[in-house]
Amino acid sequence: MDHNFWLDRWQKQEIGFHNLSVQPALQKFWPRLGLAPDAAVLVPLAGKSLDMAWLTEQGHTVVGVELSERAVDEFFAEHGVTPDVRTVGDYIVKSSGRITLWCGDFFKLNASELPRIGALYDRAALVAMPPIMQSGYAAKLGELLPAGTPGLLIGLDYNTKEMNGPPFAISQSRVQELLAANFTIECLEARDGLTKSVHLAKRGVTRLEEASYLLKRRA
Ligand SMILES: C[S@@+](CC[C@H](N)C(=O)[O-])C[C@H]1O[C@@H](n2cnc3c(N)ncnc32)[C@H](O)[C@@H]1O
Repeated sequence: MDHNFWLDRWQKQEIGFHNLSVQPALQKFWPRLGLAPDAAVLVPLAGKSLDMAWLTEQGHTVVGVELSERAVDEFFAEHGVTPDVRTVGDYIVKSSGRITLWCGDFFKLNASELPRIGALYDRAALVAMPPIMQSGYAAKLGELLPAGTPGLLIGLDYNTKEMNGPPFAISQSRVQELLAANFTIECLEARDGLTKSVHLAKRGVTRLEEASYLLKRRA
């Protein structure tokens, strides 16, 4: 999945993945992470997700990473704020209040450039990667997150004969295969996700499992 694919999606506003409400699984399971309210949350492949605003409402600072500058600009514009802008290496970094969005390639992030990360939130990031990129993404998470850091990951699974990704199907066993080396993993819930995913139903998916995982970076 090259960068142009995503930049083009944002350019054409083909952003069916973007939800107009906060993820129910985030609201339901976030307390399970047991975080201090001011912990910094890393949101890879952030888009302009409203989940980031919800996290700040809980008291967190948010460090989002997003390839598309348009997505980043839309996020701030839709929240009625003008961000401060700076450049850090290859990234344009835009921030306002408790939210900082790093505009650039998640895979090039350097842990030493980031504030201390206290938690991970992954919705539609791992599943945005084709299988060949998934292990690199899992390794990058291991690199960026300090030992003991908890995270919430929301995965999607469906019959891959019915649709080509993205989103790519990630079964519970695939989550284990990708992440177990660096994380303990607890599946908190696996539920039907099709009812609220009309755009995936339109693409031919007849069964969609949305699973929420509590992760913890191993020492
Ligand atoms: C499926 S969307 C999910 C967005 C967001 N997490 C949400 O829930 O709405 C994936 C996002 O990742 C971004 N992206 C893809 N590859 C990336 C990369 N290598 N580094 C940073 N962002 C990337 C895309 O531009 C897109 O906005």
